[in-house]
Amino acid sequence: MTNTTVVLGGTGKTGRRVARLLSDRGLGVKAASRSSEHRFDWYDESTWAPIFEGANLMYVAPPMDPGGAAQAEAAVKAAAASGVRHTVLLSGRGTGSPGREFDVYRAGVSLEAVLQDSGMSWSIVRPAWFMQNFSEDFLLDGVLHGELRAPAGDGAEAFIDADDIAEVIVETLLDPDNHAGTAYALSGPRTMTLAQAAAEISAASGRPVVYEHVDSEEYQAEIVEYGLDAETAKGLADLFTVVRRGLSDYVSDGVQQVLGRAPRDFSDYVRATAATGVWAS
Ligand SMILES: NC(=O)c1ccc[n+]([C@@H]2O[C@H](COP(=O)([O-])OP(=O)(O)OC[C@H]3O[C@@H](n4cnc5c(N)ncnc54)[C@H](OP(=O)(O)O)[C@@H]3O)[C@@H](O)[C@H]2O)c1
Repeated sequence: MTNTTVVLGGTGKTGRRVARLLSDRGLGVKAASRSSEHRFDWYDESTWAPIFEGANLMYVAPPMDPGGAAQAEAAVKAAAASGVRHTVLLSGRGTGSPGREFDVYRAGVSLEAVLQDSGMSWSIVRPAWFMQNFSEDFLLDGVLHGELRAPAGDGAEAFIDADDIAEVIVETLLDPDNHAGTAYALSGPRTMTLAQAAAEISAASGRPVVYEHVDSEEYQAEIVEYGLDAETAKGLADLFTVVRRGLSDYVSDGVQQVLGRAPRDFSDYVRATAATGVWAS
C-alpha cells in the first residue's frame, strides 16, 4: 500500500515543515487546515471524511483554543474508523513531566490517552517550547517592539527548533516498526532564560530586545486587551508559570534518540532567522 499522510494543522509551524519533508521524499501528503487546498475544520465535522479517505498515516498538531481538545479527540477516533493505521501526535513536554498537574496540560494528557486507546499504532512527540515562537508566533510582536513581557521570571526553558521537531515526526511516521508505542520528549541542547534569548536575538538581528518580567495577572490582562480570550490567556500564563518555577529547566534527548544526532542550538536558529529579515521589519 502506498503511504499517504494526512497532516492536520498542515499550514502551522510543525505541519508545514512535516508536509514539505514528506513531499520532498516524493510521498503522498494531504496538508489539511481551514486555509488549505484540503479543507479541514476542527469545528466542522462534515470536512473530516474526505480528508481521511485513502490515508493510512496521520500527523496531528492539535488546536490550542478552548473546546479544541474534544474536537481533536473526536477526529482521532474518526481517523481510526476510516482506516488510518499509524498516527503521530504533537503534545507538549509538560504532559510527561513534573508540570503535568497544571490545568493547561489536562487536555494534552487526555488526548494522548484517546490516541493510545484508538486501535491505531501511535507515536507521541512532546517538545519543549519552540524557538520559532520568537519569529512565527506569539513572541514575535514582543521582539519587534523591543520588549518581551512575560511572567517567566528568571526561569529557563530548553527551546527546540521546529525543523528538528518536524524531522523527528517524519521519522516516527515512516518507521512505526521502530517508533510505535513510544513518547519522545524533545528539547534543544541547552536551557536558557527569556532574558538570554532576547540578548541572543538582539545580537544576531541588530534590533535591541529586552525581557521584562510581569506579574501573571498583569500579563493576562495585557493579552486579553490585545484580543485573546480569558481562557487562552490563563493557559499561556500557566505555561510561563511552569517555566518560572524551574519545571522546564532540563534538556531531553528525544532528537538524539530518534535522529541519532544532536538538536540544533538557539544560536543556529537566531543566525538563520535573522537572515530571513523577519526581525528587520
Ligand atoms: N509553540 C510551542 O512552543 C509549543 C510547544 C509544545 C507544543 N505545542 C503545541 O503545538 C500545537 C500547535 O502546533 P503548531 O505550532 O505546529 O501549529 P500553529 O503554528 O499554531 O498553527 C495552527 C495550525 O492549525 C490550523 N488551524 C487553526 N484553527 C483551525 C481550525 N479551526 N480547523 C482546522 N485547522 C485549524 C492552522 O491553519 P488554518 O489557519 O489554515 O486553519 C495551522 O495549520 C498546539 O497543540 C500546542 O500546544 C506548541
